[in-house]
Amino acid sequence: MNLETLCMDVVELSREVGIFIKMEEGKVRASDIEEKSRNSLVSYVDKTAEEKLVKELTLLLPESGFIAEEGTSHKLGKRYNWIVDPLDGTTNFLHGIPTYSVSVALREGDKIILGVVYEVNRDECFYACKNGKAFLNGNQIKVSSTHELKHSLLATGFPYYDFDRSDAYFELLKEMVHKSRSVRRIGSAAVDMAYVACGRFDGFVEYSLNAWDVAAGAILIQEAGGIVTDFKGENNWLYGKEMLATNVLLFEEFSTLVKNKMGA
Ligand code: IPD
Ligand code: CA
Ligand code: CA
Repeated sequence: MNLETLCMDVVELSREVGIFIKMEEGKVRASDIEEKSRNSLVSYVDKTAEEKLVKELTLLLPESGFIAEEGTSHKLGKRYNWIVDPLDGTTNFLHGIPTYSVSVALREGDKIILGVVYEVNRDECFYACKNGKAFLNGNQIKVSSTHELKHSLLATGFPYYDFDRSDAYFELLKEMVHKSRSVRRIGSAAVDMAYVACGRFDGFVEYSLNAWDVAAGAILIQEAGGIVTDFKGENNWLYGKEMLATNVLLFEEFSTLVKNKMGA
């Protein structure tokens, strides 16, 4: 398997799926929308996009399996598994807010080896593979070199279904607002992380994310020279429902803040 070639195939596929999603913008009726659980919306758009991804990714790597948000495939691969969020930012999409993305990662054993995030409405495709570099539409990207929170622009996602840790989270948010230039909540964790990878955001934090929200974004950030950890500063971020991402220079200040409020 040539990882770089595979990565470019996934870039092309993600763009195709993104074009389908964009064509459906504004066409989804209220009766097409299902609430999977509290505030977790889905429509035929997410499902059709995922079906296409599963079909084509299987053709690209027949022995692979899937961890896919909408449950289109439950096949698990022995060595390779795709981690797929066909539409990250569904609430934005359904409300006519332009920030949403297609997010695809490939895991070999317990290592993520490829990640693609396609931000549909900006036609921006972010991609990276293990021990390579990270790219945005063919140009290499790097995390920012901001080294103090007071000069940083941070991103986050507000809790919307899991409020168990919301008191601690809002304490953290207050500190983030006070200590940084500002904080954004743009509604697609994959885009938040892609923006950390290319230096638009200096740091990102959110709890209760799933593997498909963060897998592709994480390898983008790592290959762009940044760090992803859980709230203790450790490695349990893929399934641990805690994501902290930043550049190396800001890591100590930002992670200490997060650890103090939410690291228990
Ligand atoms: C959501 C988005 C959002 C984040 C949520 C995710 P979805 O994914 O990434 O930014 O705050 O936690 O669930 O449901 O649109 O795929
Ligand atoms: Ca998602
Ligand atoms: Ca989704």
